Amino acid sequence: MKFKIAVLPGDGIGPEVTAQAIKCLETVADIFDHSFEFTEAPVGAVAIDQTGDPLPEATLDICKASDAVLFGAIGDPKYDNDPSAKVRPEQGLLKLRKSLGLYTNIRPVKAYPTLIDRSPLRPERIKNTNFTIYRELTGGIYFGEKKLNKEGTVASDLCEYSEMEIERIAHHAFKAARNRNNKLTLIDKANVLETSRLWRKVVTRVGTSYPEVALDFLFVDNAAMQMILNPSQFDVILTENMFGDIISDEGSVIGGSIGLLASASVGDKYALFEPIHGSFPQGKGLNIANPIASILSAVMLLEHLGLQEEAHALDCAVEIAIARNIVTPDLNPESRFGTREVGDQIAELLSNAGENICFNRENVEFGRSTII
Ligand code: IPM
Ligand code: MN
Repeated sequence: MKFKIAVLPGDGIGPEVTAQAIKCLETVADIFDHSFEFTEAPVGAVAIDQTGDPLPEATLDICKASDAVLFGAIGDPKYDNDPSAKVRPEQGLLKLRKSLGLYTNIRPVKAYPTLIDRSPLRPERIKNTNFTIYRELTGGIYFGEKKLNKEGTVASDLCEYSEMEIERIAHHAFKAARNRNNKLTLIDKANVLETSRLWRKVVTRVGTSYPEVALDFLFVDNAAMQMILNPSQFDVILTENMFGDIISDEGSVIGGSIGLLASASVGDKYALFEPIHGSFPQGKGLNIANPIASILSAVMLLEHLGLQEEAHALDCAVEIAIARNIVTPDLNPESRFGTREVGDQIAELLSNAGENICFNRENVEFGRSTII
């Protein structure tokens, strides 16, 4: 089959890790006889340098004309340290999410058995952790009205949600829970925030259509603690935009490296796939960034395109690489493998798919589809 994929490598290590995901997708295309047409476009600080705009109109048009978007990373220290900068790289990503209507952000978190001792958390705590965060992505405090008084001394950001915005992602989260272990946890701050109380009301109502799913609630402060104390209690987590941003970075600690976590951002029409890590400017050009989050984002992209077998094969190649310690220095400080080498090896493992025991579904208990 033929697919068009927009590639937005972005800033910092974004281009390096994205190149590895593309390498793997090209291998998938070869093996399974598909054709992926990749079109690259600038976003973020790179786009500001080229055009003055973090999300040029042409980039948005390319995304809209594609079957999926593969995104790298965004951000540059020259903006982080300048609070008065009017144009910022992050605006490009936020505008992209909003313009493409990507209201559901899916972030799977799991503890790989072979990496269990790399986590800063104790193995017995994180064993069997496998949950997915459903983070609302186009509403809340990120997109509410922003104010700064004339003197620049008082500021506010409005957190607003409508029933519709909560309802549509809640359906996706309940469906995901139904395909997993039938448990959904809504994370909020309903003891303080009006928006959180609306979330509870709407999610409880939506839940009546999914009687097989057990719904529970956690305040975000408690959830932050539970995630470290007992992360295997979670199955599907549903939460609003900013809480989701924060707890997903926290969740990344469980697996031992933020460089392992992929994400899918989906709406009714478009879908974008990106690692959850940032642009890691200190690592740029050093061939040390972990490409696995980007490659696993490509796995989610394949699932989205309906290429389940292909997604499974690539996911499996990643799993074997990890098991064989073919990882970047974030997971093994002595590693002789850099960003490119890990990408090469995973592509190579994929090419030898037929010989790999892992590809026999009966022999390996494999991760469920993470996407709706
Ligand atoms: C993320 C990032 C973004 C966010 C930034 C870069 C705007 O941290 O995708 O988690 O806050 O959503
Ligand atoms: Mn984040």
